[in-house]
Amino acid sequence: MDYKTIMCDILVVGAGGAGCRAAIEGANHNLDVIMLSKELLGKAHTSMAEGGLNVSLGNVDPDDNPETHFKDTITGGNYLNNQKLAEILVEDAAQRIFDLEDMGAVFDRTPEGKIAQRPFGKQSWRRTAYASDRTGSEIMVTLVEAIRKTSVRVFDEVFATKLLVTDGKISGVCAVDLKYGDYLVFRAKSVVMATGGAGRIFSVTSNAQLDVGDGYGMAYEAGCDLIDMEMIQFHPTGMVKPESAKGRLVTEAVRGEGGILLNNKGERFMHRYYPEVMELAGRDQVARSIMTEVLEGRGSPDGGAYLSIAHLPKSIVEFRLESMIEQFEDAGIDIREEPMQVSPTAHHFMGGIKTDEDAGTIISGLFASGECTGGLHGGNRLGGNALADTQVYGAISGESAAKYAKSVSHLGVDKKTITKEFERLEAMLNRKDGISPADARGELTELMWEKVQIFRKEEDMQFAVDELRRIEKDVVPNIKVDVPVKRFNPGWHQAMEFVHMVTTARMVAEAAVMRKGSRGAHYRVDADPNEKGYYNIVIKKGKDGKMEMKKEDLVITKITPP
Ligand code: FUM
Repeated sequence: MDYKTIMCDILVVGAGGAGCRAAIEGANHNLDVIMLSKELLGKAHTSMAEGGLNVSLGNVDPDDNPETHFKDTITGGNYLNNQKLAEILVEDAAQRIFDLEDMGAVFDRTPEGKIAQRPFGKQSWRRTAYASDRTGSEIMVTLVEAIRKTSVRVFDEVFATKLLVTDGKISGVCAVDLKYGDYLVFRAKSVVMATGGAGRIFSVTSNAQLDVGDGYGMAYEAGCDLIDMEMIQFHPTGMVKPESAKGRLVTEAVRGEGGILLNNKGERFMHRYYPEVMELAGRDQVARSIMTEVLEGRGSPDGGAYLSIAHLPKSIVEFRLESMIEQFEDAGIDIREEPMQVSPTAHHFMGGIKTDEDAGTIISGLFASGECTGGLHGGNRLGGNALADTQVYGAISGESAAKYAKSVSHLGVDKKTITKEFERLEAMLNRKDGISPADARGELTELMWEKVQIFRKEEDMQFAVDELRRIEKDVVPNIKVDVPVKRFNPGWHQAMEFVHMVTTARMVAEAAVMRKGSRGAHYRVDADPNEKGYYNIVIKKGKDGKMEMKKEDLVITKITPP
């Protein structure tokens, strides 16, 4: 099995907000940094983030401060957050947004010329800084520009499939150059995982095509701990129509700017559920409220709710919700005049690779940042905290990876492990009979959407677990790519991703079954009334290859759960 070996000091896997920020930090240390991007640089999911990032600058509401941001983050997260991580987030966010400005990012301003801040759900003050409703795009353009000015070597369209670990320490990564089908081994002194989330394991999602959970799957196989994988955020407002845009994000900024939710009777139904905060309740709460309206027969014709901003001055809508206007124009709706139809969409993984305050994992030399990590956001992430997370922990992971890389030499890598990995990938092309990756993915994403959704119950989730175990045993080893070509072959890419999707989905479903009560985004209609305490669920691959799960105490620094 031929492969090419490439050496570097720091390897960053993933090129979204967190990956780019980590790579920039690593390069600041004069180290040889490689960043792998599964698609063309600049197209990562971060560029699809719309509403903004949270930073308690107090530019609009002067009483805001990191302490209040911390409180909102912990109560919003239903107390499951790692409070040490949350403290760092709220303290460092201001400097990280100034870094972005220094790199050239342009955020919207107040009349006095300060960075403007808008209200987002479950937050005490107007805290979310923004660039109209294309904040992620502004950030990505800025980071890509900044990367170009560094020595970072970017490998576009290269897909990492396996972490290499030598004597409990990271030693490199197996990867495939998707353009040519070449096998690559990157040998690095330290590795940063910044692989994003896995919304694509659900059939309705706001996530980019490539967000399938590679990072979770690779980290699990390598022996990392993963935390609270059952905690999936369903953003309340995804597009409903047309079918091709189903699930696409309709930013919380619409509600932040004054948008209201209506049912098919024209009632502003949030009065019924969260009268004090209405449309700016937590995302989990708004998503459940919409679904309750639908299930009780008060939904919109296509199974959602109406979101209207038509009562606002057109100038505000045009200035602050520019992309929303375009997004709905394509669907034949003028949001300045008519309501949008919206319904919940799988949006964000609160769970993920367990990291410490230095973005370190249980494997020496392996760091992680951004959505692929877990613990920071607890049971429900505040809108706007994800972009802040990418910048704060992107920088920390880059810094930690640099410090580590300076202190060690390259380790050897196991050739047998590498050969076995590439043979596994090659077999998908050579199999005579088997299951098409597209069919297998369709089955999995429908299963997750139907059975591990917003309202959860034991029998559904257990059904999903049983099915996923079957898929892991019978389908994964028999995936067969229709066209056996290695040069840019989307069928092969889908097949390579599938194993990670299955591992990720299994972790989500197994942890969901284990958590018997309702917490944050994990809402059980059959919640056990005896389930009282607060805990995290940690998953890892056991020595016998079986999935092991245990409950762990929370990391509390300041706020004790009720
Ligand atoms: O609704 C939004 O604009 C999404 C923001 C976020 O998930 O942080």
